[in-house]
Amino acid sequence: MFDLKNKIAVVTGGSRGIGKAICLKMAQSGADIALIYTSHDEKAHQVEKEVSNLGRKVAAFKCNIANDSEVKNLMNEIIKKFTKIDILVNNAGICDDKLAFNMSYDSFDKVIRTNLVGTFNMIHHSYLNFVKNNSGRIINISSIVGLTGNAGQANYAASKAGIIGLTKTIAKELGRKNVTCNVIAPGFIDTDMTTKIENKNDILKNILLNEFGTPNDVANAAVFLASDEARYITGTIIKVDGGLVL
Ligand SMILES: NC(=O)c1ccc[n+]([C@@H]2O[C@H](COP(=O)([O-])OP(=O)(O)OC[C@H]3O[C@@H](n4cnc5c(N)ncnc54)[C@H](O)[C@@H]3O)[C@@H](O)[C@H]2O)c1
Repeated sequence: MFDLKNKIAVVTGGSRGIGKAICLKMAQSGADIALIYTSHDEKAHQVEKEVSNLGRKVAAFKCNIANDSEVKNLMNEIIKKFTKIDILVNNAGICDDKLAFNMSYDSFDKVIRTNLVGTFNMIHHSYLNFVKNNSGRIINISSIVGLTGNAGQANYAASKAGIIGLTKTIAKELGRKNVTCNVIAPGFIDTDMTTKIENKNDILKNILLNEFGTPNDVANAAVFLASDEARYITGTIIKVDGGLVL
């Protein structure tokens, strides 16, 4: 098991799904956890309880990552409570699917603001922390559709492709400060986000491993990227997709 003892991890979208799994796996590996969420207070507090039961320090913060001033205040609060940030996992994300012709400006804007601008806000307001510490790990959750595009997901695919460009840029800016920045691109993972998918059987035909992934499959990759063992990996994309995209 990878060792994250004495590390402080900030995980956006930590109240459920993939983010929850990342909080729990990182806590099991020894990290203290600040989890960020917008909805489902009871779920966030449940994750807090589970992390605390693992003997780790934990706090849940309600914050809309798309809002720059909220994120600025959030980062100050986190630093006050935890003193530093070692690992930043930008996992929070939303989708709002429609063919581009029928997609409203508001829908396009909302998804870009949450997924891409939100990721930027989190990095922007923790940047100096990483520079000062002269070390750190930034892990951005994109999607395989950021690599391939997907009919009906102009907003989502653009946001996820943007995250890849952002990641490579931050890797280039902060490499000399011993900070790595990488992308995890999940395929189809069983979470609330994918419960509405209707053509599951058609999708399964294209997944080499013949099943949807679990949140833990993504969390395992995140724990690895956060660990010392991944010290020489930066600016790259790890696909966790069961072989959907080769
Ligand atoms: N589930 C999949 O198949 C899949 C595939 C590829 C990529 N992803 C990506 O993985 C990430 C997690 O997906 P999931 O399936 O666990 O989603 P989910 O809908 O289960 O959870 C999303 C989390 O993000 C938080 N969130 C949403 N908007 C926010 C905002 N503005 N500010 C702060 N927090 C906010 C929610 O509170 C929640 O905790 C997302 O970025 C998603 O795009 C998921």
